[in-house]
Amino acid sequence: MIKKLLGATVVFGFISSAAYAGECDISIDATANMAFSSKEIDIKKTCKEVNLTLKNTGNMPKAAMGHNLVISKKADMQAVLADGNAAGLAKNFVKENDDRVIAYTAVLGGGESATIKFKTDKLNSKETFAFFCSFPGHAAIMNGVVKFN
Ligand code: CO
Repeated sequence: MIKKLLGATVVFGFISSAAYAGECDISIDATANMAFSSKEIDIKKTCKEVNLTLKNTGNMPKAAMGHNLVISKKADMQAVLADGNAAGLAKNFVKENDDRVIAYTAVLGGGESATIKFKTDKLNSKETFAFFCSFPGHAAIMNGVVKFN
């Protein structure tokens, strides 16, 4: 996994000298063993918008082992999870119009992927931001830090 991520970083670095867009594109996998492929998402300050791709590389249906990716302040994570749990799978385990949620993908079943575009204006380098899967019970393992530098 780490090898793969390092490879991607090198590729992004190379592309950025020729085409700017690539460095604001981020990809992360949700794996069959209920984990994200990285514990850290690094977003460059120069990115006003990010294209984030989540891929569920497992093979179970989303009702059984679906995964999404939600970004909020770390301080808001538990409240976002509680409200997301109440909202249910039909709402992708995210409360509707939740101001604390900076970005989120739909819950994906095995083999599915989704790309979302979001603005970075709610991020900063002073506070701690988290990403996590809001499928009930997953966030204790499926979480990481979003860095904006
Ligand atoms: Co999950």
